[in-house]
Amino acid sequence: MNQLSLSFESNVDLFDANTLRIPAKAEQYIAITEAKQLEAIANHLKDLPKPLILGGGSNLVLSDRLPMPVLHLKNKGFEQLSDAPSGTSRVRIAAGEVWHDTVSKCVALGLSGLENLALIPGSVGAAPIQNIGAYGVEVREILHSVEVYDLQNEQWLHLPVESLELGYRRSRFQSEDWNGRMVVWSVTLELSRSFTPRLSYPALGAVFANKPPKKAQEVMQAVMNIRKSKLPDVAVEPNAGSFFKNPVLPSELVAALRQQFPDLVSFPVDDHQEKIAAGWLIEQAGLKGAWNQNKTVGCSASQALVLINHGGSAQDVLDWALEVKRKVHQTFGVELAIEPVCIKG
Ligand code: EPU
Repeated sequence: MNQLSLSFESNVDLFDANTLRIPAKAEQYIAITEAKQLEAIANHLKDLPKPLILGGGSNLVLSDRLPMPVLHLKNKGFEQLSDAPSGTSRVRIAAGEVWHDTVSKCVALGLSGLENLALIPGSVGAAPIQNIGAYGVEVREILHSVEVYDLQNEQWLHLPVESLELGYRRSRFQSEDWNGRMVVWSVTLELSRSFTPRLSYPALGAVFANKPPKKAQEVMQAVMNIRKSKLPDVAVEPNAGSFFKNPVLPSELVAALRQQFPDLVSFPVDDHQEKIAAGWLIEQAGLKGAWNQNKTVGCSASQALVLINHGGSAQDVLDWALEVKRKVHQTFGVELAIEPVCIKG
């Protein structure tokens, strides 16, 4: 164990490991590339605060100092399995692979199901944690199972998708019990060998209104074009994607709000609930393209739901998020919930 304690690096700068570019320092950090490392480390972690399991760092608000051990998942691997039902193909991908590279690879192999999820920043292992979704598709629709290492019971588990409690931007991995304990090691997707376009997202449907797509490749390209046209590029404007969830409210409440705000943008969730566009609320509250006092943190001028960080600290980001929440609540009486995971220092 001594040998392993030594393999933790101390005071590691995570500026480049989080897309909001928060200047965070990890007191104890280890890059994990081998399954054996997880097995060996579990016992050592028992006396320490709950670890932070770091993937692509694209859905995180770090704190300036991280007192807990940071396990950075960097394992690699992509494998087509042989046990898939006819017409489908099962692919097992290591948690440390880049999500978009996986999407491109599967589409190039003639497998469809992932094309609507192109260009989502982050790692494969993070996909089930918040059930990533975009352009009319959520990962739960093509997820078969995940392989996890349970740091508490020191055992490997294969968990079927049904056991993960996946919902809109949520999963069992976020629960108090699983967070920092269940480490996603690989993800198995079940993809289709034939292509069925999913074009329910209006702007995507519009692209193919006169000429339906014949290949997943075409949908992937259209999704990439739409994303590039409205979502700020993290390399230029550091961000964590949507900073708030779209609030889901009872339909009667949405109807009452619409009386007051006839242009309110909402989408049905089921027979009783609707999802309000948080970006619309923020824009109408006058915050699209607005910045904090020292001009470090603001709301994107192209998608108000995305917070941009130009040199601010974790506190600057959280202060601005609170200001957005306050203004939206004051204007509409609606409570916004922060979407990325916020780490307390
Ligand atoms: N809107 C505005 N002003 C804005 C932004 C949006 O009025 O500044 C309105 C739009 O006009 C549109 C509606 O809000 O009518 C919805 O906007 P959009 O289609 O851009 O999607 P979103 O609800 O803002 C969600 C996801 C995105 C995902 C897109 C596309 C959440 C929290 N966000 O955004 O996911 O890419 O749909 O499916 O559900 C992410 O999670 O990081 C992310 C980018």
